[in-house]
This record gives sequence, C-alpha cells and structure tokens, in this order.
Amino acid sequence: MDAKTGTQKQTGTITIGNKNWDFPIYKGTVGPDVIDIAKLYSETGMFTYDPGFTSTASCESKITYIDGDAGILLYRGYPIEQLAEHGDFLETCYLLLYGELPTAAQKADFDYRVTHHSMVHEQMMRFFQGFRRDAHPMAVMTGCMGALSAFYHDSTDITDPHQRMVASIRMIAKVPTLAAMAYKYSIGQPFVYPKNDLDYASNFLRMCFAVPAEEYKVNPVLARAMDRIFILHADHEQNASTSTVRLAGSSGANPFACIAAGCACLWGPAHGGANEAALNMLREIGTVDRIPEFVKRAKDPNDSFRLMGFGHRVYKNYDPRAKIMQKTCHEVLAELGIKDDPLLDVAMELEKVALRDEYFIEKKLYPNIDFYSGITLKAMGFPTTMFTVLFAVARTVGWIAQWKEMIEDPKQKIGRPRQLYTGATRRDYVPISRRK
Ligand code: SDX
Repeated sequence: MDAKTGTQKQTGTITIGNKNWDFPIYKGTVGPDVIDIAKLYSETGMFTYDPGFTSTASCESKITYIDGDAGILLYRGYPIEQLAEHGDFLETCYLLLYGELPTAAQKADFDYRVTHHSMVHEQMMRFFQGFRRDAHPMAVMTGCMGALSAFYHDSTDITDPHQRMVASIRMIAKVPTLAAMAYKYSIGQPFVYPKNDLDYASNFLRMCFAVPAEEYKVNPVLARAMDRIFILHADHEQNASTSTVRLAGSSGANPFACIAAGCACLWGPAHGGANEAALNMLREIGTVDRIPEFVKRAKDPNDSFRLMGFGHRVYKNYDPRAKIMQKTCHEVLAELGIKDDPLLDVAMELEKVALRDEYFIEKKLYPNIDFYSGITLKAMGFPTTMFTVLFAVARTVGWIAQWKEMIEDPKQKIGRPRQLYTGATRRDYVPISRRK
C-alpha cells in the first residue's frame, strides 16, 4: 500500500470462537476503507468467501473512481461529464495512461504517436480470411487482438517500460483498425486503410463506412458523438473484463494476449454484450403497449428475463454515462433527421415505467451505459453485432492502463484465488468391472 495514499488508519478485529485476530485497515483518498486480510489464512486457517467479489478490493488503483450511490465517475479525478464535454478521446487516453491531462505539446505528440501506429501488419488480412463472413465480429476481434502478439515481438517484454508504452500505444492505435476490418469483412466490403490526416473517431468512421467507389465525407456531428461514446466507455474501475486483464497480466502474459482475454470477457451479455442485448430487447418489445408485459417478466423471479441495459453492480443510482449517452442519442437522431424512432420511444417509455416501479426502486435498478448506446449506434449505421466491438475499441485504453498500473506495482504478484471445496472427500479408484 502506498504510504502517501493508502494510509493505515487503524486495525480491524475478527473474532472467531474465542480467538481475536487484528488486521490493518487502510484508507484511500476517497471511497470505502479496506481491511487487509492477506494474512487471514496463515493466521486463522480460513479463507474469505466472496463469489462475484461484491465486497472485495482486488488491488490498489489511482485510475478510476466510482461512487455508485451518488452516480459519480472520475477518470484520474476528473468528472466524466467534464471530460466528455470539453476533451477528446485521445486526451482521455493520455490522462488514463499518464495520470495527468496533457499540455498542448504532449497532446500533439501523443496524437502523432497513436496516429502513426494505426496500420496493422499486412499479413493480418490473411488472418481475417480464416473466419466465416457471418462470424460474430467479437469472435474476430478476440482472435485478432491475441494475434497481434505474433507480430510485435519488440513490445512484449513487459519488464521494459519503453516496450510497455509502445505496446500500449500500438493497442490503442490498432484496435479501431481491427474493428473496422471486422465490420468490413462481415459485409464483404474491402478493408479501408487509416488516414493520418483524420482524428481518431473520424478515421474510425471512415474505415467503417467509406467505399473505394466514392469519396467519403465524415459527418463532424457523428464523429464528435463517436469520440464522446469512446470517452464514456474508456475505463470503469475493476469491472469483469478489466479484472480479467489484470489476472491474465499477473502471470506475465504479454499485453496483447491480456487484452484478448479482456475482450473475450467483455463479450458476455451481463457486461459489454448488454448494448447488443438491450437493442435486441427493445426490438422484441417492439411497441410501447407491450412494455408492461416485459416489465412483469423482468420482475418474475422464475423468469430469467432481465431488462438489458438496466442495473449495475456498483451504480445504485443513475449511471452518469447513461445521461450523457441519452443526450448524445438525441443529438445523433436530430442530425440524421430521424424524427420518430420507435425503439427510442420504447426506450424512453420503458425508462419512465421502470423508474416509477417499486421493484426497480427497491433494487436500485437504473439505466446503465448500455441502455441508450444501442439506439445511437444503430442510427449511426452500425449493425447490432458491432456494438460490443465498439465498446472494446474504447475500453482497450482502460484495460491497458490498468494492466500497466499492475505491472508497475512493486507489490504485484500472480493472482491465485482459493475456494470453498464441497466436493467428494478422498476415495479409492473403482475398476470399471465393479462399477454399478
Ligand atoms: C456493464 O462492472 C462494470 O463497471 C460494468 C460496466 C463497465 O463499464 O465496465 O459498467 C459495463 O457491464 C454495465 C452492465 C450491463 N449489463 C446489463 O445491462 C445486463 C442487465 N443487468 C443485470 O444483468 C445486472 O444488473 C448486472 C449484471 C449488471 C449486475 O448484477 P449484480 O450486481 O450481480 O446484481 P444482481 O444480479 O444480484 O441483481 C440484484 C437484484 C436481483 O434480484 P434478487 O435476486 O435480489 O431478487 O436485482 C435484480 C436481480 O434479479 N436485477 C434485475 C436486473 N438487474 C438486476 N432485474 C431485472 N432486470 C435487470 N436488469
């Protein structure tokens, strides 16, 4: 624990039977204190038990702070609302990686470095050919992210700070190119190379939607919306995919392989796959008059149906990103002249109904970032299967910043949780001839 911030405040005592054990309690700069139970097993012979890690701090971090009750999200102390309003995505990437907002010179240098790493090795094209055209783009992304480690041996020595930063820049720079290639491959259109005179979001939109047959003009309103969506999704403390990246990285695996692991975890519908699932849910509901039927199902403990895009492990208030996402959604629909999107009507009414409903109030279930993102991305021209890919493009910087923080932590060791074993105790082998 860093003496400056994680100061030992006092000790906590655990009493088991007639024995007491004292453990240090540390105080962060903000947020809940922690009790250091690293010595619990060696002193008591017992493990803690916390499936889903609802009460477990897996690490010390200085990157992102969430106050779930107040609906607050800070990247290196800066409110997400201010970063989304005033900055751009590469500024957020710099902030997450280096810990401070860049000066104009630092920003220009960082933008240059990312821009000039945006191409992928030409042989990656062949890697794509191995996939079926109808492969889910997240399957392609997970494969290609891991495959990057086969091309960049000069930035996989994680003990070298320079190589760690090169790998970080490469990942941030190449992930939109791979994402656009996954999209183009799925629709049978030729890949579009990045252009160095475009900003990050404009480059991405052009790689996705330009065709060789005609000039493509980036819509600045959509580019701004895309950039803001990237900022909103950039990092989020120790969520499932980030924890996956940290655990993979704790074994010393190279950063490209770790990001591939995070990408695989993000795909799940309970996590980053919720934006795709939320839009599919809105489509299934179809019209406002069917909302009560689905809300009833979401409340039924015997029905596995959940309102996708609602609820959160940490936010027990409105996800601050969802508010900005909703505003961006309206901006995009207005820019595209989409007056009455039935899915938006269903989403707005569903939000109203759910926020008034006792079940959602009692369980503190609010719209999360995935609730409005799908409508926005669909309006921008992305197919539903690309929604989680866009989440992965943005979250790559969060994954890599958290990975770097862990690797650079002198106390870092391999993550190796234990278990509560409730299986068979020791028993002898029975030859098959004697089995009943
Ligand atoms: C992301 O961790 C992060 O930070 C993630 C993320 C990020 O930026 O990295 O914010 C991105 O993953 C956002 C979440 C996207 N997922 C969804 O929208 C899927 C729908 N939401 C749920 O699956 C759920 O809310 C989770 C997974 C998000 C959170 O689940 P928890 O914290 O494990 O809570 P829970 O499942 O124990 O739910 C608590 C109660 C349960 O009822 P009881 O068992 O207490 O009776 O609330 C109910 C749940 O049944 N509940 C819901 C619900 N979410 C929770 N009921 C109906 N609809 C829902 N969406």
